Amino acid sequence: MIDEVLKVFKKIDAKDFRILTGIETGMKHFEWVPIEELNKYTKMPLDKLEYRLRKLVRDKLVVRTTQPYEGYQIYFEGYDALALNSFVKRRSISAIGDEVGVGKESVILEAIRQPELAIGKPSPVIIKFHREGRTSFKQIKRVRDHIGEREHFSWIYAARLAAQREYEIMTKVYPQVSIPKPLDQNRHAIVMEIAKGSLLSKTKLLNAEWYLDEILRQVKITYSLGIIHADLSEYNIFVSEDGVQLIDWPQYITPAHPHADEILERDVSNVLVHFNRKYGIKRELEEVIREIKSGASLIGATKEEASRDEAIIEGTLKRGEGLNEGISEENKDKENDNKEEAFGEERN
Ligand SMILES: Nc1ncnc2c1ncn2[C@@H]1O[C@H](COP(=O)(O)OP(=O)(O)OP(=O)(O)O)[C@@H](O)[C@H]1O
Ligand SMILES: [Mg+2]
Repeated sequence: MIDEVLKVFKKIDAKDFRILTGIETGMKHFEWVPIEELNKYTKMPLDKLEYRLRKLVRDKLVVRTTQPYEGYQIYFEGYDALALNSFVKRRSISAIGDEVGVGKESVILEAIRQPELAIGKPSPVIIKFHREGRTSFKQIKRVRDHIGEREHFSWIYAARLAAQREYEIMTKVYPQVSIPKPLDQNRHAIVMEIAKGSLLSKTKLLNAEWYLDEILRQVKITYSLGIIHADLSEYNIFVSEDGVQLIDWPQYITPAHPHADEILERDVSNVLVHFNRKYGIKRELEEVIREIKSGASLIGATKEEASRDEAIIEGTLKRGEGLNEGISEENKDKENDNKEEAFGEERN
């Protein structure tokens, strides 16, 4: 788990990162990356390479097979290390803290970020590591069907896609919608501000009506931007003295989605049911929906968005399935990979 990554993180040097990057790159084409490929990629003598690979296997950052040939895959932990390394290098974070949560499809870590200007204090931030590919074989199969023979599929792909998708939508709705400020994204990981207060599910509110209105206002603003959260509930809403913040966005859809109305109703209904059960507040779903939709002057989804949404509905709103974008994202990610070649000494 992340703890182990933190422990070994300090022991990983630039050459190890080069090997991890080599395996990551190789996994685009091989299920198991042959040692010869790594030899070519790293330009390390075979004996030195093998020695380092043994250590990476021992630290559970990579996994090795000998059948039908000697090959390697990166583990989520190795992938975490690569993302952390990028964040540290570009100063998105300066130190790593404790694990603060494990979601169904993510691991959440606290970290420290230095202020952008010399004045100001370091602030705590959150790193969300996506874990999509690991949990859903059905999803993996769907991604694979979609990619066809063009690329070898790996779970890395599903997790990275979900993180890109979540980060993109967060930067799109921030700051109009009240969410933790998105700060950076690399591979399957996102750096964002810490949400204020505590989860709605774990809080006993004194002024519940006010908070309910505030949440519905956020849903309305979101909808007016052409977005529906699609996983809204008391588990994805933070409440504090300042108001509310919505988190956990990778499964968002647009109103062009064939089931958009149903999904919006489900979101709103989750919230209304919570406030009804816990605080006895009664609101009419239809009326609330009408009010939310009355702010939707800006909506006009493109065809592309609509077809992506169709791809998503198939998986009934599991996150990380914005498949069309993912493929074109490939190039973008390659650019990122190149930018990150700060293992300067290693390169010719
Ligand atoms: N920005 C944040 N600030 C504070 N806590 C956060 C933040 N983001 C996530 N968390 C914590 O981590 C948990 C999981 O995050 P999130 O809901 O984004 O991931 P998830 O994998 O979709 O989780 P789940 O499947 O449980 O909904 C949240 O319930 C919350 O407790
Ligand atoms: Mg969640």
